[in-house]
Amino acid sequence: MTATSPRLKHEVKDLGLAPLGRQRIEWAGREMPVLRQIRDRFAQEKPFAGIRLVACCHVTTETANLAIALKAGGADAVLIASNPLSTQDDVAACLVTDYEIPVFAIKGEDNETYNRHVQIALDHRPNIIIDDGCDVVATLVQERQEQLADIIGTTEETTTGIVRLRAMFRDGVLSFPAVNVNDADTKHFFDNRYGTGQSTLDGIIRATNVLLAGKTIVVVGYGWCGKGTALRARGLGANVIVTEIDPIKAIEAIMDGFRVLPMAEAAPLGDLFITVTGNKHVIRGEHFDVMKDGAIVCNSGHFDIEIDLKALGAKAKEVKTVRPFTEEYRLQNGKSVVVLGEGRLINLAAAEGHPSAVMDMSFANQALGCEYLVKNQGKLEPGIHSIPTEVDQEIARLKLQAMGIKIDTLTPEQIEYINSWTSGT
Ligand SMILES: NC(=O)c1ccc[n+]([C@@H]2O[C@H](COP(=O)([O-])OP(=O)(O)OC[C@H]3O[C@@H](n4cnc5c(N)ncnc54)[C@H](O)[C@@H]3O)[C@@H](O)[C@H]2O)c1
Repeated sequence: MTATSPRLKHEVKDLGLAPLGRQRIEWAGREMPVLRQIRDRFAQEKPFAGIRLVACCHVTTETANLAIALKAGGADAVLIASNPLSTQDDVAACLVTDYEIPVFAIKGEDNETYNRHVQIALDHRPNIIIDDGCDVVATLVQERQEQLADIIGTTEETTTGIVRLRAMFRDGVLSFPAVNVNDADTKHFFDNRYGTGQSTLDGIIRATNVLLAGKTIVVVGYGWCGKGTALRARGLGANVIVTEIDPIKAIEAIMDGFRVLPMAEAAPLGDLFITVTGNKHVIRGEHFDVMKDGAIVCNSGHFDIEIDLKALGAKAKEVKTVRPFTEEYRLQNGKSVVVLGEGRLINLAAAEGHPSAVMDMSFANQALGCEYLVKNQGKLEPGIHSIPTEVDQEIARLKLQAMGIKIDTLTPEQIEYINSWTSGT
């Protein structure tokens, strides 16, 4: 575990982009006061001295601030992309030149390159893996059993990654602790909901410049991301229809004031479709058949499997790029369907991902989750662990403090009351 890693190079688009990346990383940093405080403490305490770390995240300005904090804490960190389309090439360049963090990520890399970068990251023989979607951990477990002894643990960023980790645990192949960053309240309440809500619409607008007011927008899935997306779409004047498979979420959507329909009925009504389910083929061939001419479909769930693009491709006479990240499929039935960002997360493909202010809390959880793993090395059982409530609360406290907002504290009388059962009517 203490052996030094082989000297690592980098694979980025153009190191000449570094000055722009630096400007943008610093701009994002202004909105990340919680992570900044953690970084300053890490710089003093060096909790990651001697630790080899791999981060597989969207290579954005916010991730750069996380990587800088981990490095300040002494980590020997390597960064790769968690999606072929989400890398910001200027950020990748800056991390290599200004911070000497090896980055292997190029926007638009093909799947083969993406997978090669996962292998390069594993060549670093990590002790800690920060994963976003579980690709590095799944590859490690399937292909690098001999490296399992090096692993202290992993932290997982997103819902889809947690679903995969739970399946790994069920199958008895998760032999180390995994910290569930996604389920921290200071993560999914804000990142999945307000972050995805705003950035998904940002991506759609940047890709298409369509007016959303008066459009019928179908939001597929009413989980955390779906709620945020539906809320923001309504805020821009769209008529929002929600589709769900969970009866409770469906009631929630109805009581939040949205129309709920099955996809077969929503498909002919929508002008724009946004999938955020983490599930496969939620928009399929039979749905494309009945869509309006010119309907736009996009995805903001983790993987590019939510829209069945193979089925759409089979119905197309011609596929034409009409704008960056915007492809028109001319169908044999005479209509067209427009696909954004190749069905990959549109907020990262066509926009910049979540605003820094929400990533501040998500990445505070990542940074403290990694520290928790190191501090508790050898003490945590294999399996999935929540971020401790005190850590979650502390992140919220620091965030409020940075926002200049004060809240009340319980009086001694209130503490006594909520801890007793004797006083009733
Ligand atoms: N774009 C981003 O930046 C970003 C950010 C956070 C999470 N994510 C990803 O977004 C996806 C959703 O995350 P979440 O936190 O909202 O998850 P969630 O579990 O809270 O919500 C998913 C919802 O989709 C519903 N669903 C499943 N199959 C469906 C189907 N066939 N039709 C309609 N609804 C269906 C589920 O019932 C659930 O309510 C995941 O893949 C997650 O990793 C993306």
